[in-house]
Amino acid sequence: MPGKVQEFASRFAEFADRLASQRFYNYPFGVSPRAEASTYREIWLAAKQNNCPAIDRLEASQGYSIDKDWMDELALLTQVVIKKSDICYQHGRILYAVLSSYVAASQYDSVNIVETGTARGYSSLCMAKALHDAGQPGKIFTFDILPHDVEMYWNCIADDKGSMSRAELLKAYEQLVNNYIVFIQGDTQMQLRKVFVPRVHLAYFDGTHTYEYVLSEFGHIVDKQKSGDIAVFDDYTPELFPGVVKAVDEICATQGYSKEVLTVSEQRGYAIARKK
Ligand SMILES: C[S@@+](CC[C@H](N)C(=O)[O-])C[C@H]1O[C@@H](n2cnc3c(N)ncnc32)[C@H](O)[C@@H]1O
Repeated sequence: MPGKVQEFASRFAEFADRLASQRFYNYPFGVSPRAEASTYREIWLAAKQNNCPAIDRLEASQGYSIDKDWMDELALLTQVVIKKSDICYQHGRILYAVLSSYVAASQYDSVNIVETGTARGYSSLCMAKALHDAGQPGKIFTFDILPHDVEMYWNCIADDKGSMSRAELLKAYEQLVNNYIVFIQGDTQMQLRKVFVPRVHLAYFDGTHTYEYVLSEFGHIVDKQKSGDIAVFDDYTPELFPGVVKAVDEICATQGYSKEVLTVSEQRGYAIARKK
């Protein structure tokens, strides 16, 4: 009997999760393209010029840097959107440099990565590229409330070709996707517990930017990290996301992680935490 109750509870939770995500199945970024392709291209041309000395230094210290042309092309498809804040896709450089250096330092049969907040797939693909370039097998489990196989407009340059699923949007990157990325749809509170990997070598948090969510998401991986393993937190930005900053500071102070903060602008900072 308890088994039946448990099964019912679990099915109900699934149903509630799906119901809560319903609006993300129905054109969450609008029912038509937001701008002409030429507008996205103009924004991209400006964003490409951004300099980030803090990340230059990180790349130098790690000894690895992502191919800029490859990253810019991917960013045109997956990062350049119509929004009020500046376009900044420097986290691709951070993830690539840190992950490349991590896998070069030791030998792993396979590397497990957990990411919260897939969006259009930019950060997942930057990490997949690092694994590919290193010849390192691995899996990136990436979570988002946005579905992977449902057509929508993405507020991106590809929208002028019509609505499409994320799978179609990333067609040109199919090989990296198939070899490395596992897309999981749903709220991280529900879905993270379903990933049964013994170790999370690197985690990247870029989903809901609140104190509660960051702590809760980190709680799912904390027991799966060993000395040297990495947690990267996006939007470690005191003015905009004090909750993220508070959670990361607390995690580093109480869970035995060192903390390296990279500030790119008043709107964007990152924290790299390494388990001591
Ligand atoms: C800042 S974007 C992620 C950007 C992405 N990492 C990249 O580099 O392009 C945040 C994403 O997190 C997703 N998200 C926010 N809260 C979430 C939650 N509780 N569970 C799952 N996904 C969530 C949003 O749908 C959004 O796509």
